[in-house]
Amino acid sequence: MTETLHRLVYYSRNHTSGEDAVFSAHIDDILAKSRINNTRDQITGALLFNAGCFAQVLEGPLPNIEAAFERIQQDDRHGDVSLLALDPIDTRSFPNWAMGFVGTSSVDAERFADIGSSSGFDPSRLSGDQIYTLLRNLTIEEEADA
Ligand SMILES: Cc1cc2nc3c(=O)[nH]c(=O)nc-3n(C[C@H](O)[C@H](O)[C@H](O)COP(=O)(O)O)c2cc1C
Repeated sequence: MTETLHRLVYYSRNHTSGEDAVFSAHIDDILAKSRINNTRDQITGALLFNAGCFAQVLEGPLPNIEAAFERIQQDDRHGDVSLLALDPIDTRSFPNWAMGFVGTSSVDAERFADIGSSSGFDPSRLSGDQIYTLLRNLTIEEEADA
């Protein structure tokens, strides 16, 4: 029997501060670790970040995403980790992404501005569904460009 797939969405406050280079190094490290661990754990998903916050979607077998979320919550590079959604799903929305990311490019900044107008530039006001939809649309566009 195959295990039930689940999708988890959370939001957190970015605690990495400092110069762009330091911030980039943290992001590179997070993505590198995530891709190794998530490939091992059959987890796919995407990470959205800016200087103030992270939002992430994880999808995979429930015990695996729960274990990953435990580790993620212990990470002091962010805080105020808020679980927004944890639901069973039929199929993966990020099948090709051990961890896709949407970050600081100018194109993304413009997109963020759009979301900002409805959320006061604060993604913590977005629901799990909105974050999921946003990340799915952005990664689909990335795939189209690739
Ligand atoms: C915003 C953020 C997102 C993260 N996402 C993941 C993830 O998707 N998968 C993962 O294994 N670790 C993720 N991490 C890293 C974990 O918190 C932790 O550093 C890592 O799992 C430790 O891996 P290790 O036990 O192999 O050293 C994330 C960390 C942060 C701050």
